[in-house]
This record gives sequence, C-alpha cells and structure tokens, in this order.
Amino acid sequence: MDELEEVEVRTLETPFGAPSGPFTVGKLPRGEGREPLTCVFVSRHGPGHLALPGELNYRANIWGLKQLGVTHLLAASAVGSLREAIVPGHAVVPDQLIDRTKHRETTFFGGGCVAHVQFGDPMDAGLRDKVLEAAEAVIATDDEAELHRDGTLLVMEGPAFSTRAESELYRSWGCDIIGMTALPEAKLAREAEMAYALLATATDYDCWHLSEEEVTVDAVIAIMKANVARVRKIILELATRLPESCEELPWPRALAGALITDPTKIPPAT
Ligand code: ADE
Repeated sequence: MDELEEVEVRTLETPFGAPSGPFTVGKLPRGEGREPLTCVFVSRHGPGHLALPGELNYRANIWGLKQLGVTHLLAASAVGSLREAIVPGHAVVPDQLIDRTKHRETTFFGGGCVAHVQFGDPMDAGLRDKVLEAAEAVIATDDEAELHRDGTLLVMEGPAFSTRAESELYRSWGCDIIGMTALPEAKLAREAEMAYALLATATDYDCWHLSEEEVTVDAVIAIMKANVARVRKIILELATRLPESCEELPWPRALAGALITDPTKIPPAT
C-alpha cells in the first residue's frame, strides 16, 4: 500500500521452513495527533502468486508474523459466492468456517506437546467488530459494493474449483461463501494466540449458479482487481478505528486451559 511509511522488508526462517515470502513491515498513518499503526504484510501466495493454496506454508507464515510481534491478524481473501444475494464485488465478514481441506499441516502441536485450543468461534469478536465498522464506512460511499455482516465460509482443498454437486452440498449445509486459504490459517492464528478476522470479497458465483458462466480464472482476476482497491481502503479506515494500543483490543489467550502436556516438559519446536 502506497500509504505505508518507514517500510522495511524482513526475510525470516522459521522452525517450519520458509514463509510464503518476505514480510513488509511499515506504519499506516492515522491522522493528526495519533501514533501511526505498525503493520506487517505477507502475501500468502508469495511474490508473483507462484504457490497453490495447498502448497502454502501456513505454519511458517503465522510463526513469522508472531515473531514480528503481530497480535491482530486481518486476512483478506477472494471467495466464490454460494448465495444469490452475495453478488461478485460484494464484501463478506464471515463469522464461521467449515473445513474441507485435506493435505495441510493444521497445528503447531504434536511431537511431544499436546494441546486442544477452543475454536467454536473461529473469528475474534473484537477485531471483527472493528473490521465491520471500517468496511461499512467505506462501502457506504461505493455504489458497486455491499457488505454482508456475517456468513459461513467453506474452505476447500482445491486447486480445482468445486463440482456442481459439491457446490450444492455446501449450499445445503448453510455455507455462504467458498475459498481455499482461511484454513488452517485461522486455527494456527488461534494456537499462536493472535486475534484473527477475515475480510472476504466475492469474485464469482461458483458453479451452482446456472444462469452464470462457470467460474474462470480470468473472470475471478478482473473482479479481484476492483475488490483489492476496496480492501485497501477498508484497511486504511480500519487503522484509524483501532485503539491507540493493541492492549486495548484484547486478543485470545487460547493456550490457557488448552495444554495437556506439562509446560516444563515441552520439547523445542522442530
Ligand atoms: N476463490 C474465488 N472463487 C472461488 C471459488 N468459486 N471456489 C473456491 N475458491 C474461490
């Protein structure tokens, strides 16, 4: 984002290997009399979008963000719409997730350390409220977009899009949007005790919508460009709405009560 000041690019190694790419650290201005907001950005698919959703090193990305001091994580995702009312170009701030991924490392635990974190509400309520406020303010000035204040996001493995029978199945489950990257990301953020919220923007109607042409990458990318401009505006607005200190927007202490292994006997991460 052009507005980012004091930009520094950090490359990190983690116990889980390399993250998707470098982390961009910088400050977003918040207007007269306010301290700028320190932000870290990492592109999930890496520079040039060279990695499939199933190839991403989600653990390394979350580990890197944690190492850089991130306490609140806003994920931005392009999604397909499973509802007539969610028109391509609309924004959704989901409150629930369904996991249909298959071949991904989903936890920091194991290897001698056992823990089960709560995940009934996968999104952080405090951060979600701020994202909703910011999105509402931006979208109020935009005739092309609309905001859907909640919804269930189905996360599929990909990389191929769904069959029509799958798309209809997910609709019958009550899912509203479909994507490929929010999991295990949200689970790992919870294990890392970071507040997580997701701002989704619909790029297509998936294949259930018979009056539409089947989803193509070209169609997805064209809508995505407009969506990205909107997401940037929402992030700038969010920066102005976040409290002066992150401490004022508490984040989940998910490990309290989650560890089964005696903390003094936890082996180092490998
Ligand atoms: N991302 C964008 N559109 C999608 C779709 N239809 N299915 C899964 N992920 C998507």
